[in-house]
Amino acid sequence: MQSVGKKGFKNGTMRNMDSSIFFKVRINTLIPGKPVTFDLYVRVGQQNIMYLRNGDYLTKEKVSHLSLKDSGSHFYVRQSDRKSYRDYLHEQLNSDQFTAFQKAQILRESSLTIMEELFENPDVSVALENSRPLVKEFVELMDSEPTAMAHLISLSGHDFYTYNHSLDVAIYSLGLADTLGFNKKELEEMGLGALFHDIGKRQVSLDILTKKGPLTDEEWAQMQRHPQCGLIILNDQNVSDAVKAACFEHHESFAGNGYPQQLSAAEIHPFGRIVAITDTYDAMTTQRSYNVPLNPVDAVTMMKEKLAGRYDPEMLKAMYSVLFKLKAA
Ligand SMILES: [Fe+2]
Ligand SMILES: [Fe+2]
Repeated sequence: MQSVGKKGFKNGTMRNMDSSIFFKVRINTLIPGKPVTFDLYVRVGQQNIMYLRNGDYLTKEKVSHLSLKDSGSHFYVRQSDRKSYRDYLHEQLNSDQFTAFQKAQILRESSLTIMEELFENPDVSVALENSRPLVKEFVELMDSEPTAMAHLISLSGHDFYTYNHSLDVAIYSLGLADTLGFNKKELEEMGLGALFHDIGKRQVSLDILTKKGPLTDEEWAQMQRHPQCGLIILNDQNVSDAVKAACFEHHESFAGNGYPQQLSAAEIHPFGRIVAITDTYDAMTTQRSYNVPLNPVDAVTMMKEKLAGRYDPEMLKAMYSVLFKLKAA
């Protein structure tokens, strides 16, 4: 076996870069010195060129060299090799070779490309299908590495893109639901629901989503339709009512003045109440062009004091425990 770093590009160009043929993977999810179990392609101009063949591996030097280049930070793998890539990741996440922090990093890195895909792929059923094993990995890692959640939270995003946001909301929601005592199966549903909570934003125009400054009444009305749009999308999919509730009810308010149904307290599904908290928490602690991010404890305190009544008080209390675990790790 030989590192491709010494050989340069291998032959075999692929003209078709359609996402139904290839998916993107981040270089940081590939372990130096460990043979890959799939062919790896690099994008050059309009072509995908085979870079590393199944059984070859990257060296440490090559990984750090490639990471510095924009074009080298991502690779492409054939969709037909998706299972091999998934198994490769699964093996790393269950290996003694890595610390909990390294595993959290590998999982987060691999999730980001899946999230990008999820928001770009017009086919929600494919996105859902690819998200399920990912959520399972999160729940398993939380189970096997007690500090993994704290590391995952510490790695959470600083930029606000919908896909980063959805991933972070899923991570916080898993942390909160775990603290609240949900079982493994419920946690998997929670993770999936949180990943898709804003899926209805596909129907909101990009101008509105990225607008700096206040929205007009009409724009606001369009924005506020995203829970319904999300429900319509998910109704066509094979997902549970709990997953749908995380999407449809995450803008309800505990006091009863949220939207779209003005439900209150226990009328709101627990997943809706959880995402209401983690969604706001992420918005408050993330850098956006028009705000200064709050630190974690200040964000929860503000939700408790200034936004009193909007959130389930018991769940908000549990959110402090999640942050306490983060600090302890
Ligand atoms: Fe939302
Ligand atoms: Fe959101």
